[in-house]
Amino acid sequence: MRTELVGRDAELGVLVNALEGALAGQPRIVLCQGEPGIGKTRLIEDLVQIATERGALVAWGLATDSFGAPPHWEWWQILRRVAKDIDVLKVADGLGSRRELAGRNWIADSWARGSRAGEAG
Ligand SMILES: Nc1ncnc2c1ncn2[C@@H]1O[C@H](COP(=O)(O)OP(=O)(O)OP(=O)(O)O)[C@@H](O)[C@H]1O
Ligand SMILES: [Mg+2]
Repeated sequence: MRTELVGRDAELGVLVNALEGALAGQPRIVLCQGEPGIGKTRLIEDLVQIATERGALVAWGLATDSFGAPPHWEWWQILRRVAKDIDVLKVADGLGSRRELAGRNWIADSWARGSRAGEAG
């Protein structure tokens, strides 16, 4: 059973503020750091719930400390998820950065995998 989020009103407020900025077209990056077990993931899970309720597309990328993970592994995961709903190359066209993107095989590959996953699911 999931318990109530305790004592994180201020932190959640910062995150919701950033979410509202992003939804208004102002991209944001927030770094959340803290001791193991202090509640970073839990805080983000609560934000994800709020973001989903407000219509945002949420994509997770989990980093790993182990050797052997592909380069940019967390971004792969994020792009794969995003590419299920969004034509990444079309967005790149709109930004005039398709050539740059095409040179980055890992992005193109993520997009292709995301598209295939989208077709399958
Ligand atoms: N503010 C909170 N209110 C209620 N439960 C909490 C809170 N913060 C953390 N928890 C609970 O404590 C446990 C550990 O939290 P969590 O996994 O989010 O920590 P973490 O900082 O992400 O740890 P790690 O660095 O190991 O990834 C989870 O079961 C989580 O639900
Ligand atoms: Mg965690």
